[in-house]
Amino acid sequence: MKLEPLPTDPTQALRVRAHELIPGGCHTYAKGDDQFPERSPPFIVRGAGCHVWDMHGSEFIEYGMGLRAVTLGHAFEPVLSAVRAQLSLGINFTRPAPIEVECAELLHSLIASAEMVKFCKDGSHAVDGAIRLARAYTGRDMLAVCGDHPFFSTSDWFIGTTEMNAGVPESTRRQIVKFRYNDIAGLDALLQQFSGQIAAVIMEPARTEEPTPEYLQQLKARIGASGALLIFDEMITGFRWHLKGAQHEYGVTPDLSTFGKAMANGFSASALAGRKEIMRLGGTDHTRERVFLLSTTHGAQTHELAAACATMRYYESHPVVETLYARGARLRRGIDQAIDAAGLGGHFELLGRDCNLVFATRDAEHQPSQLFRTLFMQEMIKRGVIAPSFVVSYSHSESDIDRTIDAAANAFRVYRGALTNGLDGLLEGRSVKPVFRRFS
Ligand SMILES: Cc1ncc(COP(=O)(O)O)c(C=O)c1O
Repeated sequence: MKLEPLPTDPTQALRVRAHELIPGGCHTYAKGDDQFPERSPPFIVRGAGCHVWDMHGSEFIEYGMGLRAVTLGHAFEPVLSAVRAQLSLGINFTRPAPIEVECAELLHSLIASAEMVKFCKDGSHAVDGAIRLARAYTGRDMLAVCGDHPFFSTSDWFIGTTEMNAGVPESTRRQIVKFRYNDIAGLDALLQQFSGQIAAVIMEPARTEEPTPEYLQQLKARIGASGALLIFDEMITGFRWHLKGAQHEYGVTPDLSTFGKAMANGFSASALAGRKEIMRLGGTDHTRERVFLLSTTHGAQTHELAAACATMRYYESHPVVETLYARGARLRRGIDQAIDAAGLGGHFELLGRDCNLVFATRDAEHQPSQLFRTLFMQEMIKRGVIAPSFVVSYSHSESDIDRTIDAAANAFRVYRGALTNGLDGLLEGRSVKPVFRRFS
């Protein structure tokens, strides 16, 4: 295949090459061109704290850094120095390294339900491990998945439930049923309809919607009575809702839970944790049939585990979670005031906990709008803020937050104008689109 001649602007040239060589132009859909306005910086060259720089040297404040993985900040020295020290000792040996145990002890000490843990690289792998283990432990095939939570894994069992399910066999899709969050009657009905068939119920403990009183407690009791396992996917809530996990925050103990993202400040470490009686099936000290549980060539590279240890220790010794809440609260106050000032109530809304703010954009008819999302993101980028969400990190200072509020107040004036006069002439390019869609 011959590659096309490139545009003279190096950034645009790289964008063209990226799409020629990489399906989607990048390796994570959520970072793709179709997720951002046309005038976004196509590439980020470097970051420090919550600031990033594009190929032209322009600086931006970033939100949601690394899909919420970079909780402490880009190039965060306490984590980097732990990684450097480990790199110089070697990263992957023929036998396990002591840091595998050290890191497991650390997670075990923080997460009450983590009687045993197994590390891997990505959240999806950890969740897949939980699914296989639950199926093996219960001897059942079906899974109940929370339909209000958008993502659990890159594997067939989950991708088959999405709009973008090409390539997933029908037989796999038939094994999954969905339930609604905060709907205990709906879950009851499902457990009854598929009595004795559901291996596990998988969900995030919460997302933008908080659990109603006693919902999670009732859910846990119903699942236990049905003989299924409760899996909490704490990829987002872990180390963010609470240092000890959302399971501690809500007082509900899952059978298995998964962590990733915030665990290693962007380095590739994730974990499956849970009850010993279940987890040990992945080991060698039992007489039941063995489960092939999370074993890969790069699974426990020492520098990634060093990053995880350094990150978790930093959380323990600094007010990280408190700061995430405090910065988010400051941002929420300022943005809510700016929404009122611009008369955007009902059109722009902040959702979720202060430590994990996302936003909804609605058009003049109050309908969810990707076009208005594009306009808002475009106007923020012009003002130096990349904000697909308002998920803060420990590195977002009060002045970064205040700069963001100023940018949003100005972006809202453009938004208001577009609601009144239409988007014509305001949108500089095509709309952003949801990741999960059947066709481009
Ligand atoms: C709740 C949740 N679970 C699982 C995953 C999968 O994690 P990873 O992308 O590390 O495979 C994600 C990723 O966004 C997620 O948000």
